[in-house]
Amino acid sequence: MKLVLGIESSCDETAAALVDGNRRIVAQRIASQDEEHAPFGGVVPEIAARAHAERLAPMIAGVLEDAGVTLDDCDAIAATAGPGLIGGVMVGLVSAKALAMASDTPLIAINHLEGHALSPRLADAELAFPYALLLVSGGHCQILRVDGLGRYRRLATTIDDALGEAFDKTAKILGLGFPGGPAVERLAATGDAKAVLLPRPMVGSGEPHFSFAGLKSAVMRAHESGKYAPEDIAASFQQAAVDCVIDRLRIALAAMGPVETLVVAGGVAANATVRAALETLAGEHSMRFTAPPPRLCTDNAAMIAWAGVERLQMDGFAPDPLDISARPRWPLDPEAEPVRGAGVKA
Ligand code: KG4
Ligand code: ZN
Repeated sequence: MKLVLGIESSCDETAAALVDGNRRIVAQRIASQDEEHAPFGGVVPEIAARAHAERLAPMIAGVLEDAGVTLDDCDAIAATAGPGLIGGVMVGLVSAKALAMASDTPLIAINHLEGHALSPRLADAELAFPYALLLVSGGHCQILRVDGLGRYRRLATTIDDALGEAFDKTAKILGLGFPGGPAVERLAATGDAKAVLLPRPMVGSGEPHFSFAGLKSAVMRAHESGKYAPEDIAASFQQAAVDCVIDRLRIALAAMGPVETLVVAGGVAANATVRAALETLAGEHSMRFTAPPPRLCTDNAAMIAWAGVERLQMDGFAPDPLDISARPRWPLDPEAEPVRGAGVKA
């Protein structure tokens, strides 16, 4: 039975976990940095890197202790090597390199996005390739066809903001604090989703890409008008965002060829309204729908360890840990064409 130690430090969650080849999360610890970043209304890269550096070593020791194992019992160490905030990625990767070299354990460089993309397979043993994946987090918003490990076809990306970013900005406009997604979801539950007329950017376009900047501006205008209750703005925003996602997915699903399962992953996949709408869409297409439990949607190290288990089974680790370098950008589908009007996002 393979056992992999996973390390995650690409954004504002410091995390370590042990996962085995039977999909068992043997131990895991996670520390969010919400308190450190809250005063700034968003993640400050230098603060994040420093917090990872302070917390990671004791956390890894703690996870090994929780499981009652040592590094010698691990078949590999899997660490996020990108994409993400480079300072944090380097803290995790350098720690992993040191541990790998000291214990003579193979080191596997994990693409954080692949961690999200495979997380539904950790939660659902029945989930086989290929599947349609909606990957929605704070930094990414993509529709992919996942044909296998390392085999991704990107059908859609965002030309401006990611979906999680749109939730975070809406939260900021409404004064709900940081991080915004869960706060918007909670407030939306008490509001009327039809109260505020908001745009659905890109809906009707034949290309499956996303855009959320216009929706955010409309939320800002609705808020500044003083005419609407915050809960109605939150509910109307959430519904507009969901409508965009479903419309974009319809286009992408038609273009991707037959797949049996629709899968969602990434932090926004924790949102119950998003999940419910996707389940309905899957039903309309006679597809199965699966989503990881919410704690595996937001950043965590179990998904990184699991990607390591899958990579290990494919023998995909680099022979020398020192050959691995941190990558601030690392697209899942390097062949995907750049999108007209798009910013710098992978
Ligand atoms: O995957 P993740 O933890 O980090 C990145 O890789 O970006 O995703 C974080 C994003 C944030 O934008 C957060 O506001 C959003 O996921 N999020 C949610 C919910 N939980 C987290 N958005 C909507 N509803 C939620 N319940
Ligand atoms: Zn993430």
